[in-house]
Amino acid sequence: MSANARVSDNARVDAEQVRGASPPVEHAHPHVHAAGREHDHVHVEGAPTGEVSLASQPGGIVIEHLHFTYPDGTEALRGIDLEVAPGEKVAIVGPNGAGKSTLLLHLNGILAGGHGRVAIDGVVVEAASVKRIRAVVGLVFQDPDDQLFSPTIGEDVAFGPIHMGVPREDIHHRVERALAAVGMSGTERRVPHHLSLGQRKRASLATVLSMDPAILVFDEPTAGLDPRGRREIMSVLAQRPETLLVSTHDLAMVAQVMPRMVILDDGRLVADGPSAALLEDADMLEAHGLEKPCR
Ligand SMILES: Nc1ncnc2c1ncn2[C@@H]1O[C@H](COP(=O)(O)OP(=O)(O)O)[C@@H](O)[C@H]1O
Ligand SMILES: [Mg+2]
Repeated sequence: MSANARVSDNARVDAEQVRGASPPVEHAHPHVHAAGREHDHVHVEGAPTGEVSLASQPGGIVIEHLHFTYPDGTEALRGIDLEVAPGEKVAIVGPNGAGKSTLLLHLNGILAGGHGRVAIDGVVVEAASVKRIRAVVGLVFQDPDDQLFSPTIGEDVAFGPIHMGVPREDIHHRVERALAAVGMSGTERRVPHHLSLGQRKRASLATVLSMDPAILVFDEPTAGLDPRGRREIMSVLAQRPETLLVSTHDLAMVAQVMPRMVILDDGRLVADGPSAALLEDADMLEAHGLEKPCR
């Protein structure tokens, strides 16, 4: 395991928990989540084949009264209500243990089985819909070692589209496009564990971009990165047209990239509003274990 594992212990525990004896919906691996046949992919009605224009892009999220308790009795989510419109960029912030990763893992059904519900474009996330949902929601784990498992980056990025039934002749183009989108063109033959954490985080993002998701969910994109790695991933995220839901401790990133933020604390959503306004409220931030970013 890499030295970076420490920053993602919580997410790793989540991933391992669902990998273990009792997967709540299906298997735990993101590539397995992504797997599906082409007819499972949700297409936009009436949209031309190929690129779908942003205006007609799906990507709405509705979370209602979501509660979740881990098998050991830890109550991680205590009634979350949240709506995200297509194309919105929303940061989920809060102290360690607030429930951020647990919430994100519900977006494509990796975790399920509590009370309440999550719907993506009006489709409730449940066992029957989970394949369809996973073609729409691209989830990037905090620890790239949970996402990258193939001998080469190219194979990791190709995995999702192959298992979605994308024609062989289009796979190469998908991989090239996804790697270009994260500034990693030409790295198809590189070995994941030879890359820096920042590169592996961007490659992890490419493994979901290659499936053309409408929604990107990214757990702690900048955690553990050096300043350059952090800037690189921020500039990629700032340019994405997809709906973006990102958990983070990096309030300076929130200020720059995410117009809306919600604060989770102890499994509850305690604030939701424009990031610029919430980041000015030093007392409220401090009350929830956060600190106003320096300018
Ligand atoms: N696999 C697990 N089993 C039991 N408790 C867990 C597991 N994963 C996380 N938790 C607990 O659930 C709560 C929320 O954790 P998490 O969602 O990882 O928070 P965050 O991502 O905000 O740090 C914490 O109390 C954490 O210890
Ligand atoms: Mg977490």
